[in-house]
Amino acid sequence: MDIREMPQGKTFHRQLRSWIDEVVQLCQPDAVRICDGSQTEYDVLCEQMVRAGTLIRLNPVKRPNSYLARSDSRDVAGVEGRTFICSLNKSDAGPTNNWMDPRDMKNKLQGLFKGCMRGRMMYVIPFSMGPIGSPIAKIGIEITDSPYVVASMSIMTRIGQPVLDVLGNEGEFVPCLHSVGQPLQPGAKDVSWPCNPENTYIVHFPEERSIWSFGSGYGGNALLGKKCLALRIASTMARDEGWLAEHMFIMGVENPAGEKTYVAGAFPSACGKTNFSMMIPPKGFEGWKVTTVGDDIAWIKPGVDGGLYAINPENGFFGVAPGTSYKSNPMAMESMKENCLFTNVGLTEDGDVWWEGMTDELPARLIDWTGQEWTPGCGRTAAHPNARFTAPISQCPSLDSEWQNPNGVKISAFLFGGRMGKSMPLVFQAFNWSHGVYLAATMGSEKTAAAEGGYGVRRDPMAMLPFCGYNMADYFTHWLNMGRRVPEPPRIFRVNWFRKDADGKFIWPGFGENMRVLKWVVERVKGCGYGVESPIGWMPRYEDMHWEGLNFSKEKFRELMTIERETGRDEVHNQEELFDLFFDRLPKEFVYERELSKSRLWRSPETWRPGATKGFAPEANL
Ligand code: OXD
Ligand code: MN
Repeated sequence: MDIREMPQGKTFHRQLRSWIDEVVQLCQPDAVRICDGSQTEYDVLCEQMVRAGTLIRLNPVKRPNSYLARSDSRDVAGVEGRTFICSLNKSDAGPTNNWMDPRDMKNKLQGLFKGCMRGRMMYVIPFSMGPIGSPIAKIGIEITDSPYVVASMSIMTRIGQPVLDVLGNEGEFVPCLHSVGQPLQPGAKDVSWPCNPENTYIVHFPEERSIWSFGSGYGGNALLGKKCLALRIASTMARDEGWLAEHMFIMGVENPAGEKTYVAGAFPSACGKTNFSMMIPPKGFEGWKVTTVGDDIAWIKPGVDGGLYAINPENGFFGVAPGTSYKSNPMAMESMKENCLFTNVGLTEDGDVWWEGMTDELPARLIDWTGQEWTPGCGRTAAHPNARFTAPISQCPSLDSEWQNPNGVKISAFLFGGRMGKSMPLVFQAFNWSHGVYLAATMGSEKTAAAEGGYGVRRDPMAMLPFCGYNMADYFTHWLNMGRRVPEPPRIFRVNWFRKDADGKFIWPGFGENMRVLKWVVERVKGCGYGVESPIGWMPRYEDMHWEGLNFSKEKFRELMTIERETGRDEVHNQEELFDLFFDRLPKEFVYERELSKSRLWRSPETWRPGATKGFAPEANL
């Protein structure tokens, strides 16, 4: 079947139709298709991509209805240097975003998009971020010339006619315009992954609430519902409308009595959010269950009962493949058994996929992500380090029963964690909301290269540095205000799985054992968990944690939880680098929190460890 002969989606939305006409005038595609989101449409598109060499059909027995794509080697990841927030005022984009005057940027983009879809089909993808019709959901319309984007968006979001039906004739939508930026000359043969790396621009107009993306066909640069809409544009909507759009997983933690607590959390990219949100409780946690609502993005709104409620606006996982295995994340492996798109992974001799870390035993040979023969020890990786699996969330065995609840799930705790080798303990709880927001805003990862020298932390406030669509100082203020507006906000915790001992070895085993931290968190929010007050927050003592099933000594725990006054001081001093960036726009509360932190540390012993006594008595805790 030819996609051109298939029935299309229907809309009588005047504004949408005139925008489509405008884009046709500008981009001059050969044909236009309004996607209806049907399975037939998906199948026909994939078949067409197989014929064009963009996709390779995987072995239908081993990996039913799944495909492999290999991108151009210059188009493999996000492009922060090419990502812009074009607010009317530069100061509204803030010092951590690239900015250009919106009029100048529009002129530039008009030039780039002129005729850019010649020789190609233009697809109009109506998509819903969040369950279709949910009061928390938002509708976007992506126009693209990439069939790979259509297929990916149909896994990652809810697309098609049902979205147009909810949009009706008057509904609001976020226009998202995308082109790979490589028009096809008459008679010319297409390449398997068209793109235009020299002219890539990922541009957000926050006042207009629109997105223009040119030149890249990869991931968040091209699937505009994800980072562009659900984080950058949604964060500005959230600021204006009184909610939060966050780079967070959402999970349920159920105890043996069947009581469920929902936890959301932010770790910087590539710090294991997906693995954490699908964790399998370890030995010693019989009767406990972890359920998954989302692994990457949370939209969080105040509920009528005074709490905060979260939905996952996405409908699929766009996970990093390398390192994912039945050992590290069995739930993700099960989610990608069928109906998946893989990008830039290795292709095995029997038509399946493979990547570094997937199995202990390496395949004898395969075709790597660049299309070349690969053997172990050949000096290249089989998969690109940012290779991805795109899998429907409905295939995740740990999926939470409430994942489609249009009102969301009530969040009891927020976790924030980076990669810190020395200055941060395994877990501690903020004293209050404003202290918690401060801890979240100062989160980051220690610089790893020895060459970088000294004490250095790459800050990534709330893991939103690349994803906040406005001035981050205003974003901090918005977080502080939310705590004032919501009578019963979640409790805030910092976690750190990456503390190292004197030999540079990780002290904490991580993975499923992180359940021990989760249990303490859940008990704290339920009011039944013990902790002691430390200079940096509330901490568990050894006896406050559940140790059944793990041989972890009291001495090791103390090493893991130690706060060295000197390192603590370095950390607080270093936070000033981040604060200086924001200058007078930084909320005053942060200056108070920093001073309070300093004074608590200054009067603490040189080495503080959670000891046997309760209450704030540092000497007694030695
Ligand atoms: C992601 C990221 O891909 O945060 O989710 O980089
Ligand atoms: Mn992410």
